[in-house]
Amino acid sequence: MVEHLRSALARERGSMNEVTTVAVLVGSLRKDSLNRKMAHALASLAPMDCKLAIVEIGQLSLYNQDLDADPPPEWVAFRHAVKATDALLFVTPEYNRSVPGVLKNAIDIGSRPYGQSVWDGKPGAVVSVSPSLLGGFGANHHLRQSLVFLNVPTMQQPEAYIGGAGSSFDADGKLINDKTRELLTAFMAAFSSWIDVHRTTTKPPSSK
Ligand code: FNR
Repeated sequence: MVEHLRSALARERGSMNEVTTVAVLVGSLRKDSLNRKMAHALASLAPMDCKLAIVEIGQLSLYNQDLDADPPPEWVAFRHAVKATDALLFVTPEYNRSVPGVLKNAIDIGSRPYGQSVWDGKPGAVVSVSPSLLGGFGANHHLRQSLVFLNVPTMQQPEAYIGGAGSSFDADGKLINDKTRELLTAFMAAFSSWIDVHRTTTKPPSSK
């Protein structure tokens, strides 16, 4: 039944030449970040009608509730950029078994002012990437805890804990691990279907 609904929605979207836009939030600011490289790989592996674009978070000052009445322009621009997209893809390292502060800061900024969260109802997915073999499992699940509260319907399967990522890219940042490419291709196909189902049920009809 769900499969039937998914393919009907995909057919409808295809016939309308609709493009799905996905905001990608990368949890590392490092120049040679493995997570950023993985975000680029995910963009190239996504289905044709699914366009991924990184929304930068390194420029965001630390969240301070005192500024809600008159927020810094970069917070406003960030909120607009996220709001304008159909879905969310978090690609994050693990810092001390949790999410890096820079990503948590972006999540907090997007969640306020109270009642105006830009995350609310947007379908999402999480990829964690680490040179270690655990693949950032702790960060992946810690992030999911916030996403439950923020009402982001987050894809459960397939999971993506990408371990051993230190050897996954060539000198030009191209993904060279065939197994990871296979997994991420399936992941993006599943996520595209997930978005089709969940944006229909979470967006008001007038905004479609
Ligand atoms: C790490 N790293 C790390 N790795 C991990 O698998 N589990 C962890 O808990 C931590 N903790 C941690 C804390 C801090 C402060 C740093 C700087 C690093 C290592 C981390 O996975 C590694 O540096 C990755 O390369 C970071 O991702 P990017 O920057 O390559 O995308």
